[in-house]
Amino acid sequence: MFIVFSCNHKPTGTLSKNGMVSSAHPLASEVGIEILKSGGNAFDAAIAVHFALAVVYPQAGNLGGGGFVVYRLSDGETGSLDFREKAPNMSSRDMYLINKEGDLVVDGNKSRIGHLASGVPGSVDGMLKLYEKFSTKNWGELISPSINYAENGFKITKKQSRGLNNVRESFEKVNDKPIAFLKESNWEEGDLLIQKDLAKTLIRIKDDKRDGFYLGITADLIVEEMNSGSGIITHEDLKNYSSLWRDPIIGNYKGHKIISMGPPSSGGIALLQLLHGADQHNTSNYEHNSINYINLLTEIESRVYADRATYLGDDDFYDVPKSSLLDKNYLNNKFNTINKDIKTKSSEIKSGNIILNESEETTHFSIVDSFGNAVSVTTTINSSFGSKVVVDGAGFLLNNEMDDFSIKPGFPNMFGLVGGEANAIEPNKRMLSSMTPTIVEKNDKLFMVLGTPGGSTIITSVFQTILNVIDYNMGMQEAVDSKKFHHQWLPDVLVVEEETLSDELSNKLTQIGHKIVKRSSLGRMDCILIKEDGSLEGGADKRGDNIALGY
Ligand code: GLY
Repeated sequence: MFIVFSCNHKPTGTLSKNGMVSSAHPLASEVGIEILKSGGNAFDAAIAVHFALAVVYPQAGNLGGGGFVVYRLSDGETGSLDFREKAPNMSSRDMYLINKEGDLVVDGNKSRIGHLASGVPGSVDGMLKLYEKFSTKNWGELISPSINYAENGFKITKKQSRGLNNVRESFEKVNDKPIAFLKESNWEEGDLLIQKDLAKTLIRIKDDKRDGFYLGITADLIVEEMNSGSGIITHEDLKNYSSLWRDPIIGNYKGHKIISMGPPSSGGIALLQLLHGADQHNTSNYEHNSINYINLLTEIESRVYADRATYLGDDDFYDVPKSSLLDKNYLNNKFNTINKDIKTKSSEIKSGNIILNESEETTHFSIVDSFGNAVSVTTTINSSFGSKVVVDGAGFLLNNEMDDFSIKPGFPNMFGLVGGEANAIEPNKRMLSSMTPTIVEKNDKLFMVLGTPGGSTIITSVFQTILNVIDYNMGMQEAVDSKKFHHQWLPDVLVVEEETLSDELSNKLTQIGHKIVKRSSLGRMDCILIKEDGSLEGGADKRGDNIALGY
């Protein structure tokens, strides 16, 4: 009754019977669907889409970043791949701090912009791991479309022209050589973006696979770029990088099996904690996006993000208490203190007692093939266009993922997230992520493939989208379109998308203590729902240029 944003017709996403690709850019979705149509499987398409996004969606698609894959094979086997960046071997705990009158203070923006902000890229190794284990196609066939778009250019969208114009100053600041992303005048919709150096790098990867990136000319160019700034990534770092197969985090919500990403992402553990809280408080009893619904979900969210800040980090370096964090009694006690009518101050919420503002880039894509395999991939260079450094001669952007570490205990990163020991910088450690590529099963069958960009808001957008489908019976596109909100414990603010709240609802939430911050959008989901008759509904987020294509 309090909702202003409502519509009478239910939006329907792309429908298909055989296969579906939902991604952040129409050209990348096209590349993926062509691979599926030519008999490739979801992994073949995922590799091709990842390389295509590195060209046609440079704000987040990448060669110079990292990410996570969660998959489910047609026979029900599930798994995950961690191709997250690693801290360079020369990194150190206090590398972004300086001594100012006896106090260690954060030294400007060095973890966010420029050469020192980058972790060792994992994407190329990740795509090769996927290729070696699952591919049925020729490697070159998966990269060729991307080489074509880099070599001959593609027309940028309106949103992309705005994005490029917004970061012009930063590009100029950290790149002393000409780069493809800078031209004399401002970018406009329909301009051709040609990336000749990137095409050469892609050809080296096509010809020499892993060695085409981590050794030889590309590695030399990365290290030269590092040396021209204050970067610390070495040949050794590149040679030693390896992505890892990891067990996914698995749990349940109302009879649905939830398969998501474990550490070094916080996504899977946080998502399962959130779903436990929703179940415990029967949030589905409340009207969607009503005051009680929003307050309950934000009370649950702030308690979960308090745990994230304290206990989550790279499990290979810090013993993340995974089973304790997902223990039913622990969670029951944790969420017991919640009252649907009362907003708890974040200062009164602590992590549980058992034995963490820029544009939120990153990109997600979901793929289902005609054989029944499903792949959920979230990949990033962190903020929009990453560190803004383009490797001279190699044409790709480097990430600024080092900012995802806790660079000083309690000091907020660009997403306002705080952290401590668990996520402190150590050489070769992976920085904590919020990326939440997820797959949901119903009755032992594939039911949903989902994920989104959005920094710290990724987890809560995935959470609310799952609730939209399971509890509110929404279709995939409707669940994606639905307005989202977010609370991350600190800062103690309720972030809502514009047009989510009526004045009345806004006033009531303010009266019970919520400080409301409006954002133009939350998330850019790319999801696929498998309907009862086995057909597919793609949900691609209209907040971006996202598109789901099926056949
Ligand atoms: N760089 C955003 C994340 O990994 O959560």
